Amino acid sequence: MTFRISDLEALEVLDSRARPTLAVTMTLADGTRVHAGVPSGASTGSREAVELRDGRPERFGGQGVLTAVAHVNGEIATALSGRAFGSAADVDAALMELDGTATKERLGANAVVGVSLAAARAESATTGKDLWRSLADVAGTTPGLPVPHFNVVNGGAHASNDLDFQEFMLAPLGAPDLPQAVRAGAEVYGRLRTRLASQGHPTGLGDEGGFAPPIDRPEDVLALLVEAIKDAGYTPGRDGIAIALDPAASEFATGDGYRVAGELLTSTQLIDRYEEIIERFPVWSIEDGLAEDDWDGWPTMTARLSERVQLMGDDIFVTNPGILTQAIQREVGNAALIKVNQIGTVTETLQAMRICREAGYAQMISHRSGETEDAFIADLATGTGCGQIKSGAPARGERVAKYNRLLALAAASPDLPYGIHP
Ligand code: PGA
Ligand code: ZN
Repeated sequence: MTFRISDLEALEVLDSRARPTLAVTMTLADGTRVHAGVPSGASTGSREAVELRDGRPERFGGQGVLTAVAHVNGEIATALSGRAFGSAADVDAALMELDGTATKERLGANAVVGVSLAAARAESATTGKDLWRSLADVAGTTPGLPVPHFNVVNGGAHASNDLDFQEFMLAPLGAPDLPQAVRAGAEVYGRLRTRLASQGHPTGLGDEGGFAPPIDRPEDVLALLVEAIKDAGYTPGRDGIAIALDPAASEFATGDGYRVAGELLTSTQLIDRYEEIIERFPVWSIEDGLAEDDWDGWPTMTARLSERVQLMGDDIFVTNPGILTQAIQREVGNAALIKVNQIGTVTETLQAMRICREAGYAQMISHRSGETEDAFIADLATGTGCGQIKSGAPARGERVAKYNRLLALAAASPDLPYGIHP
C-alpha cells in the first residue's frame, strides 16, 4: 500500500467557541480527497504540544491561525507533495522531522495534527478500510465500541459559574450496548434540565454542552445528578449509570493549595474530600484530581484511592509517551486521558496508548473544549478498543457528531463488542 500526496490545503475556520482553527484537505494522486478539523483546548496542560496562534490582537483577539495555515499550505505542502508514503506513520515521521522541535512549536501543533489526522484518513481510503478498522490494524488492537462519558454539568474554565470542578459526566457502565448508553445519557440530560429549571436555575450551557448552573459545591451537583438519574428511571451506580469527575485541579490550584468552593485545601485534604465523595456518591472515575505539577500528591492519591476508582491523568500526562513512562514507574494514577492534539500526531498517540495498555493503565479518548464537526475520535476509540470516550454533553452538534458516528458504527458492525473491557 502506498499513497502519493498531490496537494495539501488548510483553511482558517471556526471552532465551537467562535475561535479560529484549521480545516485541512489532503488530495492524493488518485484523486481521493480527505479532510480533518483541528480541536483546541482551554484548560490545557503546560507540557502539551504547542498550538500556533497569530498573536495579532486586531484579528480574533490574537487567536487567528493564519501562520499555522500558511505553514500547511507552504512548507508542509512543499515537503510532502509529490511524495509516495507507505503509511500514515511515514507522513507523521516526515512531519516530526520537518518541525524539528519536541513540542511542534515551530510549525504549530495545530498545523501538524491537522495533517496527521488527514494522513490517517488517506491511509484508510487507500486500503479501502473504514477508519476505525484501519487504525486498529495500524495499532494492532482489538476493536470495540467505547462507553460514552457525557459531560452534563460544566464548571471551571468551561463555564462562567463559580463551580470549581470542571466536568461532571454520566457514565452508563451498565448499559448493554452503545445505543442504549447514548439513550441513557440523553434521557438523564433531559431530566437534569427539568430539575434545574424546577429549582429556578438557569439552564444555559457551558463550552462542552453541559448545564452551567450557579452552584459552587461539587457535592450539590452530584446530589442533583443522582436525582436526575433516578428521575429518568435508571439506577445510580456501576450497574446502571455511574458518574465520572474531571475536577481539572490544575485550574484551581493556587500557590497555597487548592481552592474549592471558597475553601483552601492541601493535597491531603482534597484527597480526603474525594474519599468522602466516593463514599457518598456513585463516582467511578476521577480525572486530574490533583494538579499537573503535584507529583508528590499524585502517588499518595493513587495509593489511597486506586482500588476504588479510576484515577485518570490528563494535564499531568498530556498523552506524552515519555511522561507516561515516568508516571507508570512512579505509580501515578491508573488511567490516561488521550488527546491527539496534546502530542500532535496519530502515531505518537497510538504509542502513548500502547504504553498504557502494556502497563495495565485504562484509557479514555477525549475531545477538546473547542471542537469541530470532525468525528475522528469516535473511530480512534473504536479502533483501539480502549473502552472509554468523552465528547461532552449529548447536545450541540460538534459533541453529538462523535456520539452519532459511534451509533452509525454500532449499526453498521453489530458484531463490535461494547464496554470498558470489550
Ligand atoms: P480542554 O479541557 O479541552 O479545555 O483542555 C478538557 C479536559 O480537561 O479534559
Ligand atoms: Zn481533563
